[in-house]
Amino acid sequence: MTTRGFPEGFAWGVATSAYQIEGSTAADGRGTSIWDTFAHTPGRVLNGENGDVANDHYARYAEDVELMASLGVGAYRFSLSWPRIMSGGTVNQRGLDFYRRLADTLLEAGITPYATLYHWDLPQELQDAGGWPARDTAYRFADYAAVVREALGDRVKHWFTVNEPWCAAFLGYASGDHAPGLRSPELAVRAAHHLLLAHGLAAPVLREGDGLAGAAPNLYAVSPATGSELDLDAARRIDGLQNRFFLDALLRGSYPADVVRDLAPFGFEDVIQAGDMELIGGPLDFLGINYYSRHTVSAESDGGMVATSPFASASPWPGAAHVSFVHGGRPVTDMGWEVDPGGLHEILTRVAKEYPSVPLYITENGAAYVDTVVDGEVDDHERVAYIEAHLEACHDAIADGVPLKGYFAWSFMDNFEWGWGYGKRFGLVHVDYETQKRTPKASARWYGKISRQNGLP
Ligand code: FCB
Repeated sequence: MTTRGFPEGFAWGVATSAYQIEGSTAADGRGTSIWDTFAHTPGRVLNGENGDVANDHYARYAEDVELMASLGVGAYRFSLSWPRIMSGGTVNQRGLDFYRRLADTLLEAGITPYATLYHWDLPQELQDAGGWPARDTAYRFADYAAVVREALGDRVKHWFTVNEPWCAAFLGYASGDHAPGLRSPELAVRAAHHLLLAHGLAAPVLREGDGLAGAAPNLYAVSPATGSELDLDAARRIDGLQNRFFLDALLRGSYPADVVRDLAPFGFEDVIQAGDMELIGGPLDFLGINYYSRHTVSAESDGGMVATSPFASASPWPGAAHVSFVHGGRPVTDMGWEVDPGGLHEILTRVAKEYPSVPLYITENGAAYVDTVVDGEVDDHERVAYIEAHLEACHDAIADGVPLKGYFAWSFMDNFEWGWGYGKRFGLVHVDYETQKRTPKASARWYGKISRQNGLP
């Protein structure tokens, strides 16, 4: 019996991204991305791992979709590999063909495709030309969007432009934890603006005809460690850079004045050109929210950083490098991230109240735990509890009037977790990387059931 039903038509999905699962990095004319380069640079990814083979999804996509369908999932959020589609400035039809086949297979299985254009795999040649700190990259992204819209627009209606631009800009260009691994706050603030500009240029292209488009920033609940003035200021700065910077730009067409001030020493204002904010704040059909945890921040304690990388790294927080991230006393996942479903409710109600009238999706939410296969089964009850608690937060938010249209569990299957390599398992489906055998965990069956009944028991 369903006691906590969700609205009719709620999208129950699972999510992945190209570099994390596809492998076949040299197949069918694919170019090189910054993640290929980064992962092949010693000392960048734990145990020297990379996405060359990953889950071999490029070859196994049909069986992966079949498994997804057998679980009862109704929507799939995947990303398109830009270097598979555009290499050396020319369009690669074989790369597009892969996504045509994938979308067709999904549609035949009754699964709605949601495609993300940028989940961090910038073509290396564009990085060589300056990467996201270079304004031209945003225009190249718009070209790529036009190619994708033309080739896949008959099959895919739901589009996300950029995934987690905070990570792409600040982990990529300030802390160096992610590709391209640079450590310059000046470059990072340029990258952040150009990622948003890329969104602003691409969204109208994707929205042509019956296309629907949004972006997918990662938002965190943020609280100060104490009520001291310094801690309150630390929380303002982190909330500003993590949440308000992206929300205000996308949904109000302006950057928050206090964040602009914080970023002034890094030359931020010089990056913004006339007309940019109108583009960035242009019409959206929905906003995707990736939510994992809460930041509890302090300017006074030396509580240390919650690790963004297995390696010693620089601060990804321009203007807030003095801030430390302290533990708030909640249980943590295998990433060390605190489990805080209340933070998801807080984010959802806040966005709905402060940025009204945009429909929302949870485009990522999930948890890494240490999973073991015993007699062909994985009893990942902690992951079930994590997802259930967060779905409950979604249910409560909907009851409070939040226009939430769907939820995508991260991730459909275990995959390459960036700087952490294959050691961190977020999947509903277990992957044995030696044999590529997929084993649905208890959470996969549980989630499939929730999807089919459109509600929590
Ligand atoms: C998000 C990323 C996704 C995955 C999860 C765990 O930041 O978008 O690719 O790594 O975290």
